[in-house]
Amino acid sequence: METMNEADVARAAALDRVRELAREFLAGLPERSVGARQGFDAMVAALGAPLADKGIEPEEAVSALARAVEPGLVASAGPRYFGFVIGGSLPAAVAADWLTSAWDQNSGLTATSPAAAAASSVVAGWVKELLGLPKDGAVGFVSGCQMANFSGLAAGRHAVLARAGWDVEKKGLQGAPEVHVAIGEEAHATIVSALRMLGLGEGRAHRVAVDGQGRMRPDALEKTLAPLSGPILVAAQAGNVSTGAFDAIDEIAPIVHAKNGWLHVDGAFGLWAAAAPKRRHLTRGLALADSWATDGHKWLNVPYDSGLVIVREPENLKAALTKSGAYLIRTETARDNHDYTPESSQRARAFVLWATLRSLGREGVGALVERCCSLATRFAERLRAGGVVVLNDVVINQVLVRFEPPAGVEAAAFTKAVVARVQQGGVTWASGTSWHGQECLRISVSNWSTTEADIDRSAEAILAAFRSEAAGR
Ligand SMILES: Cc1ncc(COP(=O)(O)O)c(C=O)c1O
Repeated sequence: METMNEADVARAAALDRVRELAREFLAGLPERSVGARQGFDAMVAALGAPLADKGIEPEEAVSALARAVEPGLVASAGPRYFGFVIGGSLPAAVAADWLTSAWDQNSGLTATSPAAAAASSVVAGWVKELLGLPKDGAVGFVSGCQMANFSGLAAGRHAVLARAGWDVEKKGLQGAPEVHVAIGEEAHATIVSALRMLGLGEGRAHRVAVDGQGRMRPDALEKTLAPLSGPILVAAQAGNVSTGAFDAIDEIAPIVHAKNGWLHVDGAFGLWAAAAPKRRHLTRGLALADSWATDGHKWLNVPYDSGLVIVREPENLKAALTKSGAYLIRTETARDNHDYTPESSQRARAFVLWATLRSLGREGVGALVERCCSLATRFAERLRAGGVVVLNDVVINQVLVRFEPPAGVEAAAFTKAVVARVQQGGVTWASGTSWHGQECLRISVSNWSTTEADIDRSAEAILAAFRSEAAGR
């Protein structure tokens, strides 16, 4: 039998300890306080001793970390967390993520990991098929939808300027023909920051009017584009972060293409509706766009970080993002991930996606999406029955509500107070937001492990907070 050296022993001890700690944490998730029990300052105090001159054993270091941060952890991976749009992590996803760290592959080049490059290639095909997107499209595995939006719009910036005879990668934007950008009034903040990073300027973007659910109005887009000529970039949305509403891509795409423009779709979570037979109709026309952005770490329930950019014509993504260098060994027939992402070195995110999709199967992905949607409808019904105002059409997994105050109490302050009570209660957690001038509570049902009982318990906790606030208790 081989004998283990000291480093092997220390590593094995650390990994065994982490296995215990992780299993304990995950088993306790359903019943721990959903919100953090301690905040930033307490966490800094717990973690913030001066860096010691001398180190400690790996096992002691990870144990100390787990002890220090425990009260500041949020149970966002658990079944009654409905804040932002977060999603948990499926068992296959967490396990494959551990392996991804142990393998520590650099997924940037086939030369640095044929396995990671091949997994990327296979997952790219699976994702395009699941979402009904062009099978020859390029897929980049990025850190999240922010970078997916950036990458899709970078490909679009390249394409529309190339059509105008301008090489933006070589010459930059100085002296370039103006790129006209149109985005909905409800475009996500990450579209706006992508425009900033791409030198297109958030302030120059035309903001297109939306309807009562936050959908870009095709007639308003047509009017906006009518007087414009030259390079045009439009960003639409599949899944509004507040209401879950989908822009009508089937109507928007022909309007953009009639102007020879580029259509990007931000579908951070909503794109996955295309994988669920009963919700697919919401994404009508999706395949007509030129680029798409989505996340694995939201509705597909893989751990952070995992985003995906998809571009119809691979040359456009590659032209925008490719890197070259004498030492970068290129593989003609294989896939070099760094051609499709802003990053050079990168985590092998495709391993986790492969294991997750393999464990769910096509039907499992559809069922996960459908289950969250049905649970969101149940949530809305429970709250409505308790006197809460549901503000959106619950078409997928997002529920937006407002709390009617007693006579004489200011509405915004009342809803904020109910939201604070909910968040402090520990049973459930959802985010406050404002929607069309009203303070609201936004609920996103995105976790694979949420059950009907979790929904009922959470709805009851919210109604209890509402009643207590109304009674001034
Ligand atoms: C519609 C939409 N776009 C983009 C994003 C940004 O995604 P990420 O935080 O993964 O970068 C989000 C996040 O909630 C979103 O809902």
